[in-house]
Amino acid sequence: MNSLRVQPEAVIFDLDGVMTDTAEYHFLAWKALAEDLGIAINRAFNQRLKGIGRMESLELILEHAGMAEQFSTEEKEKWAAKKNDHYKKLIRLITPRDLLPGIEPFMKAIKQHGIKIGLASASRNALSVLESLQITAWFDGIVDAGKIARGKPDPEIFLTAAQLLSVRPDRCVGIEDAVSGIRAINRAGMFSIGVGDTRVLHEADYVVTSTAELDLQDVISRFHAWKT
Ligand code: BG6
Ligand code: MG
Repeated sequence: MNSLRVQPEAVIFDLDGVMTDTAEYHFLAWKALAEDLGIAINRAFNQRLKGIGRMESLELILEHAGMAEQFSTEEKEKWAAKKNDHYKKLIRLITPRDLLPGIEPFMKAIKQHGIKIGLASASRNALSVLESLQITAWFDGIVDAGKIARGKPDPEIFLTAAQLLSVRPDRCVGIEDAVSGIRAINRAGMFSIGVGDTRVLHEADYVVTSTAELDLQDVISRFHAWKT
């Protein structure tokens, strides 16, 4: 029965908010930076920052406060670096215990099925987070965020991951916690799985409320139904 199912050939993961709770750390670091600037941001606004690159996130925060024109490029670079300092302090304490529930067995099952694993994170801190979680070796391909010209929701990062893995995009599953990320997966022509609130992630092909619900057999069935 299983052999008749069309199986994905690769699963491409986002990192922050999917494999570990660093999405929360990004929020806390932006909140602290925004406070330095005299701006208040809340979790609802933060939905717009998820998945988005560092400088683009700063631009959105400044725009939100009507301060977009107030700073030079050099000043903005300093603010972005300050946010990264806040963030780096927060991720210093990450250990393998910070992997989100269900991620380890899910990845082990993917490996056992001979399905490749890729990483499509916009974060320039991704490698150090993977090292702290001690999961770098699980990946067959990791996209270098520094080499991506267009951020999510552009599909570039997911298409680059597929290319690294030598897998056609329509044979890939992408997993994301951000609306921008789900859009990037969909535009790449991949099967999209959202982790989080169904109302927020309604554009995804399938949504789980928590990573603990990720089950490979279930994902394979849904991928098969999507393909056929
Ligand atoms: C994404 C996060 O993974 O990486 C965003 O969802 C973050 O919140 C972006 O802004 C860039 O991260 P970094 O670590 O390069 O500032
Ligand atoms: Mg994310």
